[in-house]
Amino acid sequence: MIDGEQLLRFIDCLGSYGRLACGGIYRPVYSGAWVEATEQLTRWMEHAGMCVRRDAAGNLWGLIEGDSPLPSVVAGSHIDTVTGGGQLDGAYGVLAAIVAAAALQRCHGAPRRTLEVLAFCEEEGSRFSVSGWGCRAITGRIKPGEADGARDAEGVSIGDAMRGIGLDPGELPTAVRKPSEIAAYLELHVEQGGILEHMQVPIGVVTSIVGATKMQIEVTGRQDHAGTTPMSLRRDALVGASAMVVAIRGVAASIGDPAVATVGKLYIEPDQINVVPGFVRFTVDVRHAGREGQLELVRRIGEECEKVAEQHQLQVDVRVLRDSAPAPMHPDLINLLSATAQDAGVPYALMPSGAGHDAKGMSHICPAAMLFVPSVDGRSHCPEEHTEPRDLVRGAELLARALERLCY
Ligand code: GLV
Ligand code: MN
Ligand code: MN
Repeated sequence: MIDGEQLLRFIDCLGSYGRLACGGIYRPVYSGAWVEATEQLTRWMEHAGMCVRRDAAGNLWGLIEGDSPLPSVVAGSHIDTVTGGGQLDGAYGVLAAIVAAAALQRCHGAPRRTLEVLAFCEEEGSRFSVSGWGCRAITGRIKPGEADGARDAEGVSIGDAMRGIGLDPGELPTAVRKPSEIAAYLELHVEQGGILEHMQVPIGVVTSIVGATKMQIEVTGRQDHAGTTPMSLRRDALVGASAMVVAIRGVAASIGDPAVATVGKLYIEPDQINVVPGFVRFTVDVRHAGREGQLELVRRIGEECEKVAEQHQLQVDVRVLRDSAPAPMHPDLINLLSATAQDAGVPYALMPSGAGHDAKGMSHICPAAMLFVPSVDGRSHCPEEHTEPRDLVRGAELLARALERLCY
């Protein structure tokens, strides 16, 4: 049903917005590359016959009006990227939804239920550490003051970044959608791991999305001269933080799969070659498919960091920045996606998602579900991220058929 060539062309074209000379893409929310990408998406949506609007957060909605007053069906994903990410994470789900909606209109005309294609403005947390910003605006989960609190590496607040492109953070509450307005949310995404490839199965139907806790750990020691301070007298915050990083890895390994913990960001003061570091701040991304395992992981990481701090005569402050429990996908939609694959003769596997997705946030207000396509070598959040074109097209075709069942 879908135009596979067009999908692949769209993916390549959108991947040129934010392309880095050193490889990969960086298209952070509200940046120049992001604005240009949303303009391009608007043109494609309009060309596919959609009525396009940008909400107060900068989420882009392409609407195909249904001929009944029933709640709509929404399909999409995000258009921001991590630093040096690939061109599929997020973008694939948005572009596949546009191509699927265009095919459905071409084949069947206006749907019974309104079909809305949604490009979430931000999911990754790569610029402002506010992950899921677009979805939280839609689901009413942005905290008061958050727009002016969160800042990027240059000190620009998310509120100012919004104002810079003509959005008003004071209007964010108007982006909220009511549960009664949306019957279902579907998201197609690359798997970003190696399970489907290993099983040689072309489609994953997601059963649940991992629970995630974002932690921040601050270690305070004493800033000293690197030449004159004997090793025995130092209270080096970076040496302590390093021991904590290793201990954190050990906690996750001792709990075992599917527990994971990642230290991905480290800030050192004063960050000088000839000074003993006096202060270190680092982040920990903690995930587990089960809530109990997730909470145990967080608790033990805190305990280990306290222990290391005591051994190294350092102070430590362990803080949870954000926490979300694992989210099951909706059983009716899991069944619908499974039946769609089965009827199309496409083998599929039921699987959990270790990555976070907009579908998790959307599940707060409506039934949500996801389809995965295989990632070559399981690689993602890196320039090498790749999915075979035939798998990309097959995934989009199944999305179109699932939307057909829901909307017509
Ligand atoms: C999003 O890509 C996440 O899982 O961090
Ligand atoms: Mn991602
Ligand atoms: Mn993603």
